[in-house]
Amino acid sequence: MMWKWLDKMTNTTETNWLEKDKRQLHPVYHPNSHANAMVVERGEGVWLYTADGRKILDGMAGLWNVNVGYGREELAQAAYDQMKKMAFTSNFSGMTNLPSIELADKLAGFAYDGLNTTFFTSGGSESNDSAFKTARYYWKRKGKPTKYKVIARKGAYHGVTLATTFATGLEKYQAMFGPAMEGFIHIPAPNPYRFEGEMKAGETVGQAAARALEEAILREGAETVAAFIAEPVMGVGGVIVPPDDYFPLVRAICDKHEILFIADEVITGFGRTGEWFALKHWNVKPDILSFAKAVTSGYAPLGGIQISDAIRETIESASDAETWMHGYTYSGHAMACAVGLKNIELMEREQYPARAKELGKRLFEGLESLKEFGFVGDVRGLGLLCGVEIVSDKDAKTADPAQTMKVFKAASERGLRTRPVGNALAFAPPLAISEEEVDEIVKRLGAAMDAVA
Ligand SMILES: Cc1ncc(COP(=O)(O)O)c(C=O)c1O
Repeated sequence: MMWKWLDKMTNTTETNWLEKDKRQLHPVYHPNSHANAMVVERGEGVWLYTADGRKILDGMAGLWNVNVGYGREELAQAAYDQMKKMAFTSNFSGMTNLPSIELADKLAGFAYDGLNTTFFTSGGSESNDSAFKTARYYWKRKGKPTKYKVIARKGAYHGVTLATTFATGLEKYQAMFGPAMEGFIHIPAPNPYRFEGEMKAGETVGQAAARALEEAILREGAETVAAFIAEPVMGVGGVIVPPDDYFPLVRAICDKHEILFIADEVITGFGRTGEWFALKHWNVKPDILSFAKAVTSGYAPLGGIQISDAIRETIESASDAETWMHGYTYSGHAMACAVGLKNIELMEREQYPARAKELGKRLFEGLESLKEFGFVGDVRGLGLLCGVEIVSDKDAKTADPAQTMKVFKAASERGLRTRPVGNALAFAPPLAISEEEVDEIVKRLGAAMDAVA
C-alpha cells in the first residue's frame, strides 16, 4: 500500500511520467523521438497546456484534425448523452443505430454530388484500405477482375495498414516492412516548386504530372489498373498545393481509361482548405472519397469512405457469393457518429470553410513576409493548410533538413507547435483560430528564424 502511495506521489513529476510512458509504443517510434516528449494535460481553443506548465500554440491542430479547437463543451455533451443511451452496438448483420443513420444521411451529397453512400471506419488508414478493396470489388462486379492495381504519387501519405503503407509514396515508411505489396505504382507529384518528373517543352507542371499518370496507365495496361489515389493537397509529403490545371486533367484521364479516382481527403476534408472538401477548388468529383480526422475534429476516432451511386449499385445488386465482405467492429460507432454530427453542426454554424479561406489568406501573407530570410525558399498554402520550405540555396532550391529541424526546434522553444513534413514546416492550426492568434504564429516563427539566422 505504502509503495503504491509513494509511487503516485513521485509520479507527479514530468520525468516520472516519461518513465512510465515507456510502457507504450508510440506511433513512428524511435527511442530518440520520445526522449523529451511533451506531456500534454489539456487544451483550450488553439492552446495546449503541458504538465510542466508550458502554454503552446498548436499550429498543427493536433494532427491536422482538431478543426473546431480544443475544449468544446458541446462535443463533450454529445458524447456523454450518446454514451449514456448506448455507446456502441453492432452495425453488422441486420443491426443499425440512430447516430450512424443520421450522420450517413447528413453526409449524403454533402461533399460531392453523386456520393450518397457512406461506409464508416475508425480512421484514415482504414478508410483508404476500404477504398482499395471497394475499387477491386467494383471491377470484379463489372466483369473486369484483372483491374486491381492502384496508382499513387511519390510523397503521398495514405496510412499504415499493410496496403496503405505501400500506397504511401514515402520510402521511410516502407523500408523496414518489405517486401512491398504488389500492385502499387508511384508517379511524380504535381509539385510546382520542385517537380521531379520529366517536362516537355511548353508543358505546365500540371500537364506534365497528369501526363505521368496517363503514361503509367498505358505502361501497366489500363486493364490492370483499378484506381488512382491522391490527396488534393499533399500533407505529410510537404504541403504540396497542385497547379489549377492538374486535377481536371487527372479526372479526364481516369474517365478515358476507366480508372476509379479516390480522393484522400483525410486532411483536406471538413473545411481545412477553405471549401468543405478540397477538390471543389477545381470543380472535380471523385468516385470514392476517403475522410477521417476532422469529421469529429478529433473528439472521437471516426473515418469513412463515400462511394458513387454507380459503385453502390454494384454492391446492392450482388449475389450472396459476391457479398461486399468488409467491415470493422467500430464501423458506425454510435458515440463517434453522434460526435461527428454535432461537430458538423458546429462547423456549419460557425462557418468554418469561410473562416479557413479568410484566415488562411492572412496566415499565408504573414508567412510570405518571412521570405526575407535567406533560407525560406517557398511558402505555399490553401486555406489554413500552409507549408514553409527551408533551403540552403534559394536559386538551386537545395533542401536543408538540418536547418529545417533547427527552425522547428527554435519554434518549439518559443511555444509554437509546427511539424517538419517533406522539405517543409507545416501549419494547419484549428480553424477556430482568431486573427491575433494567426499573427502570433507568424511572430513566433519569425522569432525562431531570427534566432537560427
Ligand atoms: C492524407 C492522409 N491519409 C491517410 C492518413 C491516415 O489516417 P490515420 O492516421 O487516421 O489512419 C493520414 C494521416 O495523417 C493522412 O494525412
